[in-house]
Amino acid sequence: MDTQENLLARRQHLLGPSVPTFYDDPVHIVKGKGVWLWDGAGQKYLDCYNNVPHVGHCHPKVVEAITRQASTLNTHTRYLHEGILDYVENLTSMFAENLTSAIMVCSGSEANDVALRMAQVMTGKRGIICTDNTYHGNTALVSQIGSRTEPIGGYSDFVSHIPSPVGSETCYEHSDPLEPQKLAAIVQQKIDAFEESGVGLACLIICPYFANEGFPTLNKGFLDPLIDRVRKAGGLIIADEVQPGFGRVGNTWWGHEMIGIQPDIVTLGKPMGNGFPVAAVVASQETVGGFRKRFKYFNTFGGNPVAMAAAQATLAVIEEEGLVNHAYTIGHIALNRLKDLVAKYDCLGQARGSGLFFGAEVRDQKGNPDPETTRMIVNAMRKKGVLINSLGKHQSLLKIRPPLPINIAEIDFLINSLEEVLVDLEKYRN
Ligand SMILES: Cc1ncc(COP(=O)(O)O)c(C=O)c1O
Repeated sequence: MDTQENLLARRQHLLGPSVPTFYDDPVHIVKGKGVWLWDGAGQKYLDCYNNVPHVGHCHPKVVEAITRQASTLNTHTRYLHEGILDYVENLTSMFAENLTSAIMVCSGSEANDVALRMAQVMTGKRGIICTDNTYHGNTALVSQIGSRTEPIGGYSDFVSHIPSPVGSETCYEHSDPLEPQKLAAIVQQKIDAFEESGVGLACLIICPYFANEGFPTLNKGFLDPLIDRVRKAGGLIIADEVQPGFGRVGNTWWGHEMIGIQPDIVTLGKPMGNGFPVAAVVASQETVGGFRKRFKYFNTFGGNPVAMAAAQATLAVIEEEGLVNHAYTIGHIALNRLKDLVAKYDCLGQARGSGLFFGAEVRDQKGNPDPETTRMIVNAMRKKGVLINSLGKHQSLLKIRPPLPINIAEIDFLINSLEEVLVDLEKYRN
């Protein structure tokens, strides 16, 4: 087996110099099962990071469905096949009545690209409002709205950023919790500016859990005034459910249900095929039809029979194993245990989250975000055999997001490991 040095050198040579790896000491994973991963030396890791293997790594039912379909037929979607129809029927039954049709694609980026163009077709306008400090994918259009790296030549005239919401419970002294009405007023300014410049408003795109923004704690209804302004101006609402979707946040299937909004278009990805590349855009028949007519959209791999077998099996396992309720119950226990650590250790600020997507802020002695200590904790956890990561505007929020079937004993292992790291924090600092 290749050494770590050799793998890193080959990676740099073959894939280019800036391909990111997690952790100062990158992990070489060779096997996964349930919520566990194994490296080349046989060391076991509790996976508390991965939302892609949603129902657990290599879930036997998903593996079996993929294998069975791959050994029967796999091709593109210009032939008739029940797989895509059965799946879209099941999928759309999980949404509000207006969301009846779907376009199958292969990645969250493609899904958002389609969704944005859909909104532009349906409104005849170009303007897109999104939050700052966000990421929705990497196509030419979608990377125009991401705030992590500015597009070449700067942002286009059809992109306008609003501040990411900050939850009322945040620990940072210098943060400025935005009232919903204040945020709505900013949205109105953006809409007015689009109208004035002739761009017009096509849509607002948000992750309803504001995952990449640091999942602030927001009450149901927080977004209502803002949504109201967008709708009054004739814009569509796109909910990017790539991260919170499929029960991740517990109790509800979708992040938009939790925050209480009704989107016109929903985009899905990551967990959908439990690791098989499957993504989708769900909207009304009229919206999907309008887009298809305008663009004659075709996606060679999107919705192919194997992708649909993987997605169908994933959906079935979520239901059969009651994983949405499980995420809620066990996530609640885990968050409470994390809150106990917050009460004991000064370097932790607010613990927050929902279901199996939670974390805690890491702060310095003045209460400011502390990305350096966050990085240290993440690396120390990796050494202890628990994979987590960081998130948020300052990369100072511990991000914990395990596959849904994680059990209590595994949550204990996670929290106990974190406490061991916190006890020894000064040792790691040197
Ligand atoms: C909220 C959100 N939307 C879209 C994407 C893009 O998905 P993909 O990497 O499958 O293109 C991501 C990826 O991290 C994401 O976090």
